[in-house]
Amino acid sequence: MSMTEKILVIGGSGLLGYYLKQNLTDADVYSTYKQNKLDFKKANFLDITNKNNLEKIFEKIKPNVIFHTAAITDLDWCEKHEKETYALNTNPIKNITNLAKRYNSKLIFISTDSVFDGKLGGYQETDPLNSINVYSKSKIEAEKIIKTLDNSLIVRGTFFGIKNNKESFISYLLKQLKNNKEINVPKDKISNGLFVNDFAKILVEMHYKKLSGVFHIGSSDYVNNFEFAKKIANVFGYEKDLIHETLFREIFHEKNLIAKRPLNTTLNTKKISALIKMPNFKDVINSFYENTNLRSIL
Ligand SMILES: NC(=O)c1ccc[n+]([C@@H]2O[C@H](COP(=O)([O-])OP(=O)(O)OC[C@H]3O[C@@H](n4cnc5c(N)ncnc54)[C@H](OP(=O)(O)O)[C@@H]3O)[C@@H](O)[C@H]2O)c1
Repeated sequence: MSMTEKILVIGGSGLLGYYLKQNLTDADVYSTYKQNKLDFKKANFLDITNKNNLEKIFEKIKPNVIFHTAAITDLDWCEKHEKETYALNTNPIKNITNLAKRYNSKLIFISTDSVFDGKLGGYQETDPLNSINVYSKSKIEAEKIIKTLDNSLIVRGTFFGIKNNKESFISYLLKQLKNNKEINVPKDKISNGLFVNDFAKILVEMHYKKLSGVFHIGSSDYVNNFEFAKKIANVFGYEKDLIHETLFREIFHEKNLIAKRPLNTTLNTKKISALIKMPNFKDVINSFYENTNLRSIL
């Protein structure tokens, strides 16, 4: 008799964690939450900064696979709280890695496209990392610890989607458009992000293919944020002339941002594309449109 694989999604109450669970239909999935309680049988409270709590969860579940998605992702908060950022995004990784070794579990870590400085774009897995803010630095340091485990997979990329009242560029854009309000969007900021459900689907497929090491995932082609916003307006049937092009430094001042953001974090996806087909940006936008209920945010 074959045993169903036990999967632990750390950060199951987050945006990506939610979609991961939706896509892990063939497995025995356990999810963790901290502030945002999940209400199902296999949901567990977990504070990753608490070593004892981590040990208890591993002892109870003995996972074959861990998707580690918990992190602080608010860049400006991280910039002001360096110590707390490391305490959450980096330091617990040591304990998680040790527990993965002890229980012989595969560890899948979600990194970010912002481990690069964004000056060139088109980054390959082997390109040198260079962080320009505290958040990215904490993720680079986390990657270093993950790499000490042979049975690990580091996936770099970015994604967007809507969950509850979590503020994001995409929810702000849709709110402005819905209310017939103008919005400035930078044309010098560019990335090849995915709709979160597709990001999760690809992660699951990578796991099924038993990949390890470092991989970049993202759309196969891309447009800058200004063009992207216009495509979004178009597919949702909003007035695209409400969107004005600007430069990121203007947004930085307008919104009183604190952390520097890398401008061009496009990732070269050649390595993964030899194994799994990456969607193009039109697919990304259509997939977002088809899977998003605007009433949940507007
Ligand atoms: N969003 C993006 O565009 C993006 C881009 C690139 C990479 N990433 C990476 O992708 C991963 C997932 O991002 P996301 O957008 O899904 O994040 P998110 O929605 O902000 O979710 C963060 C998760 O971390 C959990 N968490 C926070 N503090 C915790 C603690 N002390 N102990 C245990 N869990 C804790 C949260 O639980 P509660 O909510 O229950 O407290 C939540 O489940 C992160 O590693 C992030 O660095 C994100």
